[in-house]
Amino acid sequence: MDSIYIVGGNRLTGEVKVSGSKNGTLAIMAGALLAKGPTILENVPRITDVHTMMEMLQELGVRVRELEPNTFEIDATDLQSHEAPYDLVKKMRASFCVAGPLIGRLGYAKVPMPGGCDIGARPVDFHVKGLQMLGAKVTMEHGYVEAKADKLKGATIYLDFPSAGATQHIMTAACLAEGVTRIENCAMEPEVNDLAEFLIAMGAKIKGGGTSTIEIEGVDEMRGARYRMIPDRMEAGTLAMAACITRGDVLLTDCSPEHCSAMFKKLQETGVKVIEGPDWARVIADSRPKATDIKTMPHPGFPTDMQQPFAALLAVADGTSVITENVYERRFKYVSELGRMGADIIQEGRTAIIKGVPKLTGAEVSSSDLRAGAALIIAALAADGRSEISGVEHIDRGYERIVDKLASLGAEIVRREAAPETSARMA
Ligand code: UD1
Repeated sequence: MDSIYIVGGNRLTGEVKVSGSKNGTLAIMAGALLAKGPTILENVPRITDVHTMMEMLQELGVRVRELEPNTFEIDATDLQSHEAPYDLVKKMRASFCVAGPLIGRLGYAKVPMPGGCDIGARPVDFHVKGLQMLGAKVTMEHGYVEAKADKLKGATIYLDFPSAGATQHIMTAACLAEGVTRIENCAMEPEVNDLAEFLIAMGAKIKGGGTSTIEIEGVDEMRGARYRMIPDRMEAGTLAMAACITRGDVLLTDCSPEHCSAMFKKLQETGVKVIEGPDWARVIADSRPKATDIKTMPHPGFPTDMQQPFAALLAVADGTSVITENVYERRFKYVSELGRMGADIIQEGRTAIIKGVPKLTGAEVSSSDLRAGAALIIAALAADGRSEISGVEHIDRGYERIVDKLASLGAEIVRREAAPETSARMA
């Protein structure tokens, strides 16, 4: 198993390109099942979650090939199978979202209950309710959801919470349904609007992407499209926070500042300077961050995915900060690991109270999920001495070449197989 080794203390400076969006790509890949004809996706991040989704599509009879680095062709013309394999769905929750398009194309889907990062209860009740309201007959037995409908029928669906995944899933299911579907209280995440734009390029009729009500008028058939993935706002946020904790000066290119608004505003509250351009952002930090509070919320609120990385920054802030996690109740597994590095964090229920310390110290730590891994990397970049981060497979799920990118900005960071004994300093 690989580990990431970091010797903290180097100031990050320079320019780095943000990769394509993980969450956007996963939703769009599931959406590509709807088309007869090839779809070409550009700026696709090469991360394990995307690889898992590719394997999933191939299992369903879809042709997937890489045309050039980060550009893939997906051809679902000969879609054959209606059953998603358990060993792939258990790895990644987003793969559950193939059910809607499968019903649309084949009238039947059998998909296992999903897995994914262990960050709290992650039910699929909104997804199931949506499919049922569109007329699918749904049964849940032996760990599988089976849904059947000769033809889905448009309906008005109200979501109890603006779930990104459920909004995207119901949108794709509704594209080939008869009549009009309205999704009320839907998610407004940029990746939801991006999926809407992609589906429109494939021939769907969708209004209201990016707002709290989306309307989809069903069409008989959809065609392939060429589409470029939006920048990954979570990677942009992670790199920005890495720059800030090292008091660095980093230019993020191929970045969409409007998607990062809540994160950048909160970074500014810590005393960081953020300069924004149309497709870039420069983050400049020259002093210890000031404490601030965050509450996670659906978009345009502060994203839950950035709660853990931000906590790493607040761990060295001047003063006490309070984090309230409103989306995933167990997204605090990093707290004990940051504690091993000297952070002073008390967690109770959905709240973490962080008393900033002047310095963290390098330690052996383990990443329990994707964004916890990001938090540990950020902390290690500023810590005194060397850290070894295990659980890198979680980080690989969502960060493309993160070690190379941070090294190019001046970090002392390597990835290698964990050795039984490791030297105090990396050669
Ligand atoms: C997506 C993102 C994930 C992010 C999350 C919240 C992908 C692949 N992943 O996950 O990175 O952390 O949005 O921004 O896009 N819920 C239910 N029932 C459901 C569905 C959701 O109760 O059927 C609840 C969840 O438990 C959670 C909240 O709704 O509390 C939001 O979840 P949701 O937006 O669906 O997250 P995902 O789409 O799974």
